Amino acid sequence: MSTTTIDKQSKESQSWNDSLLLGIPVVDKQHKILIALFDEIISISQEKNESEKILPLLNELQRYTIYHFNTEEEFMRKGNLQDMDQHVKQHDLFKKKIADFMIAHNYKNIVLLNQITVFLRKWLVVHISDTDAKMLKH
Ligand SMILES: [Fe+2]
Ligand SMILES: [Fe+2]
Repeated sequence: MSTTTIDKQSKESQSWNDSLLLGIPVVDKQHKILIALFDEIISISQEKNESEKILPLLNELQRYTIYHFNTEEEFMRKGNLQDMDQHVKQHDLFKKKIADFMIAHNYKNIVLLNQITVFLRKWLVVHISDTDAKMLKH
């Protein structure tokens, strides 16, 4: 993760709110970083020449989500959570979606930024507050 993301994390986030806290410290910390990355994508999408800057950020988002998903999946395995399959499936779909966005960017050199940001905003909040929250109910 870039230092800019870590710096941003300590500032006031546009998209984070404490209702997203689950009470699993390692997961909460990673969620804040994910949301900070999302904020960075939003702010770059409003700049000129965003197409050159967006790919490294998507790359970072991809790397960090893989790391984060591994943390959650390990947490669920350790807790022997029965219904982790659906959760892992959502992670896999997200990874595929980000990979698809990156391919679209590479080949067409058109950043589907609006689609990306709408998808990320919806997915991150719904996934954290619904699917991730279920990790606690066992
Ligand atoms: Fe998560
Ligand atoms: Fe998750």
